[in-house]
Amino acid sequence: MTAKIGVLTGGGDCSGLNAAIRAVVRSGIAKGYQVIGIQNGWQGLIRSDTIPLTDHSVSGIISRGGTILGTSRTDPVKNSADISEIKRVLEDLGISALVVIGGDGTLRAAHEVSLLGIPLVGIPKTIDNDVFGTDITIGFDTAVFIVTEAIDRLHTTAESHHRIMVLEVMGRRSGRIALAAGIAGGADEILVPEVQVSMDEICRSLNARYRAGKKFSIVVVAEGIRHEDIASTSVPEGDRDECGHEKFVGIGNYLGKELECRLGIETRVTVLGHVQRGGSPTAYDRVLATRLGIAAVDQVFAGNFGCMVGVQGNRIAAAPLESVVQQSKGIDPAEYARAKLVAGIHV
Ligand code: F6P
Repeated sequence: MTAKIGVLTGGGDCSGLNAAIRAVVRSGIAKGYQVIGIQNGWQGLIRSDTIPLTDHSVSGIISRGGTILGTSRTDPVKNSADISEIKRVLEDLGISALVVIGGDGTLRAAHEVSLLGIPLVGIPKTIDNDVFGTDITIGFDTAVFIVTEAIDRLHTTAESHHRIMVLEVMGRRSGRIALAAGIAGGADEILVPEVQVSMDEICRSLNARYRAGKKFSIVVVAEGIRHEDIASTSVPEGDRDECGHEKFVGIGNYLGKELECRLGIETRVTVLGHVQRGGSPTAYDRVLATRLGIAAVDQVFAGNFGCMVGVQGNRIAAAPLESVVQQSKGIDPAEYARAKLVAGIHV
């Protein structure tokens, strides 16, 4: 009987998921497996929502955003009945191993599930690029590309109207998108959750630009920043997603109003939102997803479970999920300092 492996995508979607699914299916088939698609993340395992994936069913999806399997933020570890159901469904379907494509939440759940005796291998994806154990996650490059393009477009209109343009980008706890795109797009201020900057400092630095003859400014801010000077981004109790994550209420708009008021310079705000997660993946993300998909199947084939495949110094390597979920990957302070250095005006 042909051995079966299951593949699922969990958490927020991003560009490149389909390329990873395609690679898992094609390399799985090449290794003699039958591949089963599990729909809507862990939820599909709890509800036995699955589809067979064939060479034909993944044809033409490498360039498509989103995930053909659907996704959800369902966390199976919250409920022991869900774990029993997952074990039963896997047994019923004859699936002997799982490939779990997810960000930090999904991979944390994967670790717990694997400790409960379910053989699996993880693949890291998230536009935030904050998963430990890999230099880069699927979806990050595309998000940075989209944000960089937005900054380029904001530059020309900012210049014409002599305005401050605030661009709010995603990043709950991680400012990696803001930092990378801020560098690439030549932003004047980059505000990230990992580095505290006071409103006075931001105003001083923008003022210095104006004194130096610059007539516009671009401020990129990650949605998750919070510090005492940039007033409360707190959410009303209850306003949380399935995983208990706070839903943000708009630091960009707050910052825009505050800057306009303090500096007396006309300011406009753009909140890029889910545009960063949609559309066609970059060539880099397609190649990365393909490499990781193949590597995950290699690990399954080798019987090396409870691990995540990732990029370490441009080589694909596997790391134990245990070490992945125990650590976080913050911004490199040296890179932040480099971004400040080239922003131009120093105060
Ligand atoms: O975790 C990835 C991410 O894109 C975060 O940067 C963002 O805060 C969150 O997902 C938004 O998720 P949702 O799809 O629930 O709005």
